[in-house]
Amino acid sequence: MDKTISEGIGAFYHHYPRIAAVITARGAGRDNAMAAAWHTPISFSPPLYGVVISAKRFTYRLIADSKEFGVNFLPASEAELVAATGGSKGAEVDKFLAFNIAKDEPLKTAVPILHNAYAAYECRLVEDKVYGDHRLLVGEIVAVHWLKAAFIEDETLNLGKVSPVLYLGSDHYLGITECNVRTLDREFCASSLRV
Ligand SMILES: Cc1cc2nc3c(=O)[nH]c(=O)nc-3n(C[C@H](O)[C@H](O)[C@H](O)COP(=O)(O)O)c2cc1C
Repeated sequence: MDKTISEGIGAFYHHYPRIAAVITARGAGRDNAMAAAWHTPISFSPPLYGVVISAKRFTYRLIADSKEFGVNFLPASEAELVAATGGSKGAEVDKFLAFNIAKDEPLKTAVPILHNAYAAYECRLVEDKVYGDHRLLVGEIVAVHWLKAAFIEDETLNLGKVSPVLYLGSDHYLGITECNVRTLDREFCASSLRV
């Protein structure tokens, strides 16, 4: 099959599927939550996590004011809620009330933690930088909430128990009905693939 080479990025979905997380924030007496597919780990030590958010989002205003945010990872059974937080604006609706979202108490920050998340980070903002039409918000992870039963001994996700919300772009979500996890020894692969 011939590949097309274009200069434009189109809808920019080439790098999907990505986990759709829910970014939470508290400010001005309000809790808010929004879906985000653009987020990334940045450093182990100190533990840093980045989220990429448009300054147009109500969530951005809350984070810029409070200097804190939460990153919540929900199971695929909560994909509708993830979509709902991405399809509504905190400036117009209290999503926690409207969608009856259960919260856990944060440990080190004031950000709401979603009770149904299998893992969530509480982050303190260390950098807020504009890149084109989005902002990269880098947070230091100061507390991790995680459901131990959702992970195996090496702390990788137990896909037999929980699957993440995988987003393909354009409102398409990936459902994993059967998974085939392969463990590949990296040094073995590096030597066996050598020609
Ligand atoms: C699956 C999904 C992923 C999204 N990812 C991002 C993202 O990474 N960054 C962003 O700024 N907006 C993203 N959005 C859009 C926001 O979630 C959306 O604009 C939301 O209404 C913002 O809520 P707020 O105004 O309450 O902050 C995404 C939406 C969906 C449905």
